[in-house]
Amino acid sequence: MIDIFDNPDAMAHAAADLFAKSAQQAVDARGRFAVALAGGNTPTRTYELLSREPYRDQIPWNAVHIFWGDERCVPADDPKSNQRMARLTLLDHVPIPPENIHPIDGTLSPEAAAQAYESELREFAQQNTGFLDLALLGIGTDGHTASLFPGDSTLTTSQRWALPVAATNTRLARVTLTPPVLNHARQVVFLVSGSGKADILRRIIEDPANNEELPAVCIQPTNGEALWLLDREAAADLPDG
Ligand code: 6PG
Repeated sequence: MIDIFDNPDAMAHAAADLFAKSAQQAVDARGRFAVALAGGNTPTRTYELLSREPYRDQIPWNAVHIFWGDERCVPADDPKSNQRMARLTLLDHVPIPPENIHPIDGTLSPEAAAQAYESELREFAQQNTGFLDLALLGIGTDGHTASLFPGDSTLTTSQRWALPVAATNTRLARVTLTPPVLNHARQVVFLVSGSGKADILRRIIEDPANNEELPAVCIQPTNGEALWLLDREAAADLPDG
């Protein structure tokens, strides 16, 4: 499912609408809403919208649980931290109980952080009949999503829910949710904007069979198909873009 919007702001409003609706539906049905936030720059406008009226008061924050799809292995006050970005744009401005925020500890070693995060995820899932209601994801120009990168062993795991990602000369060490966890979310929504993503989007959406090595292609939700919220620039190379 693909929705294309004239500009990033219209896409962000659509994402905020979806977030608020998903949250209310989940809380009505199961008493809580568990969401894995995306990092990077694309979702910041959506998070800012959610922190303000009219969205802020539409969301039952006391029953919202915040997780992350991935995190860089840096302290929480580091400018590269996904946790820091989410707190500055959203979490510091809404009445969410602190215990409902489940960050990845970027000060631990990647493996220790992944194991600690996985333990927390499994405990939450056991206490709440299942884990994610919504997974928000972005994609990189190399087709990575969360911190699932082309050629990494993280793509083929079947048992682990969270895994460490080694640093390279172009990226920090990270922790990522794995495809099985993301694919079992009730909703998977990709937020993609900008002309720089047009080519990789075309490969992922129009030709997945010949691009199976791309992590975003590995995200095949068990509950149906992922939703792609795109702006017109990102959709430029798609047939209906
Ligand atoms: C991260 C993100 C990553 C991001 C993409 C797109 O930690 O970097 O989780 O997967 O979603 O790299 O990033 P932009 O939105 O900044 O283009």
